[in-house]
Amino acid sequence: MKVKAVYPGSFDPITNGHIYIAERAAAVFDEVIVSVLVNERKTSAFSVNERCEMARESLSHVKNITVDSFNGLLIDYVRQKNAGAIIRGLRAMSDFEYEFQMAMMNRKLAPEIETFFIVTDPKYSYVSSSSVREVFNFGGTVKDLVPDGVYNKLIERYSVH
Ligand code: PNS
Repeated sequence: MKVKAVYPGSFDPITNGHIYIAERAAAVFDEVIVSVLVNERKTSAFSVNERCEMARESLSHVKNITVDSFNGLLIDYVRQKNAGAIIRGLRAMSDFEYEFQMAMMNRKLAPEIETFFIVTDPKYSYVSSSSVREVFNFGGTVKDLVPDGVYNKLIERYSVH
């Protein structure tokens, strides 16, 4: 049986830490869908189309990864895609509480869907989309923390460098 997994997130923008998790997931699952959350209540730096485009470009080298977007409850989307697994990355213990709560809630709502945690590479343990945006905005170096396409998009968006 082929196992399809969904790797959901805001990906605002996708970072090398996300890429690492997606690649590791793709080495284990037959198919991985990187799914960008469309969250109308939360303002994002990049539109859903931009976030998908950056993710698509950054992951085009992995044949069993596709990029999509979703709205509403994650488990509804996972069921609609006939996927059996949710992937989340863990950077540090501080991620765990929120991730554990989310996994428990998702299990209550959809007991047939399994959440899998993939531990990041230590070199990405401090990397988040929000810190990348903030450091970039204040003129710091983020070039080695995001794919080239994302770096160019940051320049284009904030055009200060
Ligand atoms: O990259 P993020 O922002 O940490 O990703 C969070 C995400 C998208 C996985 C989470 O917010 C989510 O699943 N949102 C969809 C709404 C939902 O299903 N909520 C119930 C889970 S507690």
